[in-house]
Amino acid sequence: MAVSQQELVEAWRHVLTLCKLGATETVCLLTRPDIHQQNVNAAEHVARQIGAYVLRLEPAIDTRSLHENKVAMQALKSSGLVIDFLGLHLLRRGEQEEVIRSGARILYVVEPPEALVRLLPTEEDKRRVRAAEACIRKSKSMQVTSAAGTELHVQLGEYPILSEWGYSDEPGHWDHWPSAFVATWPNERSAQGTVVLRPGDIIFPFKSYVRDEIRLQVSDGYITQIDGGFDAEVLREYMSEFEDLEAYAVSHLGWGLNPRARWSRLALLDKHQTNGNDGRAFAGNFMFSTGPNTDAGGSRNTLCHLDIPMRKCSVSLDGVPMTIDGKVVAKGQT
Ligand SMILES: [Fe+2]
Repeated sequence: MAVSQQELVEAWRHVLTLCKLGATETVCLLTRPDIHQQNVNAAEHVARQIGAYVLRLEPAIDTRSLHENKVAMQALKSSGLVIDFLGLHLLRRGEQEEVIRSGARILYVVEPPEALVRLLPTEEDKRRVRAAEACIRKSKSMQVTSAAGTELHVQLGEYPILSEWGYSDEPGHWDHWPSAFVATWPNERSAQGTVVLRPGDIIFPFKSYVRDEIRLQVSDGYITQIDGGFDAEVLREYMSEFEDLEAYAVSHLGWGLNPRARWSRLALLDKHQTNGNDGRAFAGNFMFSTGPNTDAGGSRNTLCHLDIPMRKCSVSLDGVPMTIDGKVVAKGQT
């Protein structure tokens, strides 16, 4: 569904206001030529109306890290707000942490205009995400079960919490529009059990629904076996291509908190039209993921990363239900 430039401008006004972009503050638009220019233009238009100083930064994409570009790094670190349109994880080789440490707020925006307008973040989203974050912070373990046979147990506490509510309004906060979910990383080698993917669960980066059951055995923090039919075969083949044992590690685990995001959206769109955040954020999904933990300050640096939002799971923290059969039930999170 196409949206008008006016609708998009209003959406940006809403989000940049939530981001507390101030008059005379500098906003850096980190771009490249082959992205949704409508988004960049609308962001610039609204930022100028607010009175902010606008800087467009389009670093050459090559094999060098952005770290080596001292002028670019200084511009990013000196900005109050960075809108990251790149979608290439160009900022994820340590540069992002450096920019955040400087106090800049970062908002990652890679979805097409339609998704941005439809999934406008709200202060209510932040309230729900913060409530979920508080539950994780005081818990020592997470348990996940499902009627399909998932039985996963992990210990918590070694790693930080990833809280995304759709806008970046606090110094040093990274966020993603659209989003609204919470996650954390299990303690090293603590994940144990079985994860059963069933038809309708989504595997990213494939951006496709699972069609037949996949059983993942998890032992001491790593997937040790992948069983099933065709989908399991594709998954096994894909993960093996990286020739990296760390690809099989259990990564961030959490649940979706966005009541407006739609599980079914992926069925309507061409893969190139979406980054898939409806699928990652829809309320009540259990997000299982594999691979790196460098975002959390860990040392596991593998290029193989899967996000797998699952439906109809029950997630508990220290035995207290957060979701039951794919529905958010925890106080303050609905
Ligand atoms: Fe992820």
